[in-house]
Order: sequence, then C-alpha cells, then structure tokens
Amino acid sequence: MPGAAPAWTARLRAAGALAAVDEWTARAGFGGPAELDVQLRGLVALQTEIDARLGELLVEMSGQDAWQRLRFAGVGRRPCRGVQATGRVRRHASGLKAPTLHATMQHFRRFPQVHSMTEDKPSFETVSWTDEGVVLLDQRLLPAEEVNLNCGTPQEVMTAIRDMVVRGAPAIGVTAAMGIALGARELAGRAPEDFDGGFARLCDDFAATRPTAVNLFWAIDRMKRVAAARRETGAGPAAVAEALVTEARTIKEEDIAACRALGGHGEPLVPEGASILTHCNAGALATAGYGTALGVVRAAVEAGKNIQVLAGETRPFLQGARLTAWELARDSIPVTVITDSMAGHFMRRGQVDLVLVGADRIAANGDTANKIGTYPLAVLAQENDLPFYVAAPTSTIDPDIAHGDDIPIEERDPEEVLRMGATRTAPEGVSAAHPAFDVTPHRYITAIITEVGVVRPPFIEGLRDALSRGKVL
Ligand code: MRU
Repeated sequence: MPGAAPAWTARLRAAGALAAVDEWTARAGFGGPAELDVQLRGLVALQTEIDARLGELLVEMSGQDAWQRLRFAGVGRRPCRGVQATGRVRRHASGLKAPTLHATMQHFRRFPQVHSMTEDKPSFETVSWTDEGVVLLDQRLLPAEEVNLNCGTPQEVMTAIRDMVVRGAPAIGVTAAMGIALGARELAGRAPEDFDGGFARLCDDFAATRPTAVNLFWAIDRMKRVAAARRETGAGPAAVAEALVTEARTIKEEDIAACRALGGHGEPLVPEGASILTHCNAGALATAGYGTALGVVRAAVEAGKNIQVLAGETRPFLQGARLTAWELARDSIPVTVITDSMAGHFMRRGQVDLVLVGADRIAANGDTANKIGTYPLAVLAQENDLPFYVAAPTSTIDPDIAHGDDIPIEERDPEEVLRMGATRTAPEGVSAAHPAFDVTPHRYITAIITEVGVVRPPFIEGLRDALSRGKVL
C-alpha cells in the first residue's frame, strides 16, 4: 500500500528501532511502515466501533476473522462483556493458525511510539472517582474476571480495602482519600460541628482498615489538613466536601505522576537484556497507575530495552502470579511466574540480574516493610551479589518511625494460608500463621528509587533529603 512514511517512523529511527519495524513489517507481509500505519489506525477505529456495537459485530463476524479483529482491537482487554465475548469467539476459532498480524502487533507494542498510537490511555483503571461512588477493579477476581465494583458509601470503600478488592500501598492511599471524600459529601448537609465530628470519625474508621501501608495514613492526614484549612477560612460543610473531592482526585493524579517520575529515575539501573525478579504486585494495580517496581520495568521497556520479569507468585494471595503476570502480559512485557521457593535457584544459576520490589512503609533509616517473602529475597540477593532495589514514592517513607522493628505488621486471617482459592490445602483443625508483611533491614538494600531520585546509603540523610524534595505535604 503506497503512502508517505508516517511521522512516528522518525521517532522510531531516533530510538534505533526502525530496523526492527522494517524487519517485522516485511515478515508480516506489509509494504512498509506506511502500510502498517494505515493498519494500526484502522485498528483504533475498529476498536471504537467495536466498543460501540460489540453485540451486533459479534453476530456479523465469524470464525478466525472475528477472533483476529477482536484481539487486534484489544477487546479481550475490556471488562466483563468483552471477556465473555472473546471467549465465545475463541471457542469458535480454536484450532486455527495464530495470525501473523497479531504477532506483529505484540512486537510493536514493545515500542512506546507505536504502542501509544493504539493505546493512549491505560486499558484499565485501578481506582477512579465518579459522582456515583468510588469504582475499583476487583483484584480478588483477577485474572479470571475483570469486574469493576462501584462503592457507593464510605463503608463499602473500607470493606473493599480490608477485603483486598484494592491493595498495594499507594492504591490504598488514593482509595481511602476518595472514600473520605465520598463520606464528606454524605455529611455535607449537617451543621458545621456535626460535620467536623462525623469527618473525624470517618478518618479514624479509614485508619483502622489496614495497618502497614503508610500511604493510607499519609492520605488521611492530607485530607484532614485540607478540611481543617478550609474550615479555618470559614467554609461550610458543602464547600469543604467539594474541596475534599478535588484533593482526592489530585492525590490520584499525583500518584501516577510520581510513578512515572520514579520509573524514569530507575530506568538507568536496568541493564539491557536484564532479567528482573520482583515480588508481590507493585504495578499499576498497586498504585493509581503505571506502578512503582513495575513503573521502572515499564520505563525500561519504553527506553527500548529488551528485558524480562520473573514474578514470584507470592503466597498466599498470589499477587505475583495473578496480578503482576496479568498486567505485564497485557502490556506484552515478557513475564515468567515462579514459585517463591524458586528464587534462590534462579539467582544461583545466573538467571536473575537484579531484584526490584515495592514497599509498604520505609522507616527513617531505610528499613523497608513489604509483602511477606521480600526479606528472604534481599538476603538471597546479597548472597548472590545481586543488586536489591526498592521502588516507592516519598509518600511511602515514614520519617516518624526510626527503624523497621517499629513498623506495625498486619496479621491477616490464617484461613487465607490454609486455602488455595476455595480449596483447603491443610488438614482441618490445623492452625496457620499469617503475617502479611516482613521487614528488610536497610543493609540489604542497594538503593531506594523515588520520584525525586535514587537514594543510596546512608539512607537516613538520603531519605530525609528526598522527603524534603518530594511533594509530600
Ligand atoms: O497486601 P498487599 O497486596 O496490599 O501488599 C502490597 C505490597 O506489599 C506491595 O508490594 C507494596 O504495597 C508496593 S505497591 C506499589
């Protein structure tokens, strides 16, 4: 197909990726980047069309053609209806040869310039504000089902945090802020003193949902400060409530921006060709978007590096196997799930180049609480001479806690350990322990990657400086 080379080819050339595009376009039978451009734009248009008329199109399309077109158009990524629909088409098309164009699309998604042409916004939202309530992607159901849960009351938001509908330190903070804004709106019709009392109780209730991630308390404090400042200027409950809605939305936007900045600072630490071991999920699902540890991974991919991720499955909630693998596979970033007990084996065999994890709370001296199982990875990394990086926004640093021993560790229901999903894996009557986090002493940590830069030992000074430069209020 004739046509001028699209503008993005210049950007790909600058990124040194044009040769790869040429090779793939030729292999897939396209005339060149211009033809590919036409195809990609067609797919974007098709996605819009399919979104609008999914049902009718499914009836119109048939067999492999339908399956290909739906997959190219990313319909498999859409919650509920899309998943069910592609399931039906997949059954119909099963046994047919995998389409070359699909492989090409997967390949091109690794180049941000092309990727952004087809997806200029994230394909899922971890947490979002609507006038009807706080909408959460239900992480308990992933990867089997993509279901958005609307929490119409602050109590429903608290339950969602406790039950891990939403989880991950920054995401919990953003969600709590939105839940508090929702509660403040409910209280907006009250007399000012009633509002103040109700608002204080609301904040206390949110603070009691989960104890370890400091981002929760950070977000609550920020909401309290906004309410107090507005009340001091004489604002009434309704005006305070609206200011809190605005603040919650700002916290979300700032979290995404912090993750992107953090990714940019961390990217140079990732060598070309690296194999990165991560634990739990410190990705877009654990934040308002983009991720912390996975933000660094995404930034490295966007810089054109060929990297791969080993995702520890993370017993018992399986955040690694279910969530990290889901969101990386969705972005076509190579990921291999391993059980937690395999980490040492892969390190010793030279199949890990660095360990990169998130954090729930970082003490003033750098000791870091993160998902249970992080500490042994840090010890193994040191034994195997591998760098161990923590990626977290400055909102995860707790300057009021001197060292890790003082970080409160959440104890969760032992039933979560005794079962694998609905299946009980231990005999009836047997008990289990379930600390949800452990603390990695700072001596095992090579560096802490924040949105204001990479902090290296000595951490006390470095973290203090990062906090003073971060947007933490
Ligand atoms: O119990 P969870 O799933 O909330 O624990 C989450 C973690 O431990 C994450 O690794 C951490 O919050 C970093 S999130 C960017």
